[in-house]
Amino acid sequence: MRKPIIVGNWKMNKTCAEAVSFINEIEPKLHDGADYGIAAPFTALKDCVNTAKGLIVAAENCHFEDNGAFTGEVSVPMLEEIGVKWCIIGHSERRQMFNETDETVNKKAKRLIEAGITPILCIGETEAQFDAGQTEEVIRAQLKGGLEGLCPKCVAKMVLAYEPIWAIGTGKSATKEIAQNCCHIVRDQVRVMFGDEAAEGVRIQYGGSVKPNNIKEYMAMEDIDGALIGGASLKTDSFEEIINATK
Ligand code: G3P
Repeated sequence: MRKPIIVGNWKMNKTCAEAVSFINEIEPKLHDGADYGIAAPFTALKDCVNTAKGLIVAAENCHFEDNGAFTGEVSVPMLEEIGVKWCIIGHSERRQMFNETDETVNKKAKRLIEAGITPILCIGETEAQFDAGQTEEVIRAQLKGGLEGLCPKCVAKMVLAYEPIWAIGTGKSATKEIAQNCCHIVRDQVRVMFGDEAAEGVRIQYGGSVKPNNIKEYMAMEDIDGALIGGASLKTDSFEEIINATK
């Protein structure tokens, strides 16, 4: 049995004060039905970690090198030092705007796992790739590159987030059938690469315009173990509705 996992990705939103106030408000609403978390900007991470009791706190990115001439970057040991235990890698915004590749995603995954930080690895196709019927090919290639060389037990503990780019922030969410089909492909690719234990253990999220009114239909699908949520995770009232809908 895989425990559902719902993570809000705040992206470049929230000051430290706003983040702390959100966490204080939302923590009493959590329940055991799922793991809940937020991914916060670097500046707010330490305060988030120190405030959260049950809520998972994730970074939104990291660098794969430990130190050096990488202006503006944050390394895994820096995250480790402040108690961060989770980190998103390969988000499509980073792939599209900051030259993230499957190769760098793979290096980040390896460094995070070495540090005991759980990666939430994002994959997903563009609208043009979807229209051209290339979704499966794109997903499998991203997983091949991103997960290459990891140990099966490590993959079993990871979270993979399928986020079709055309559904992110557009309000045009994937149908539950499309989301299920793609998450099934994700699990199958993990099975091909790492075997049954990894495939049955790994938790797969759908992301892309998930809202309080559609979360239930995704969560009812066999291969969808949770959601990575942007816009609807920014306000406590909508995040609380999502928490309540996943009891
Ligand atoms: O990582 C979550 C994200 O990219 C989805 O954003 O606003 O469509 O829920 P949103």
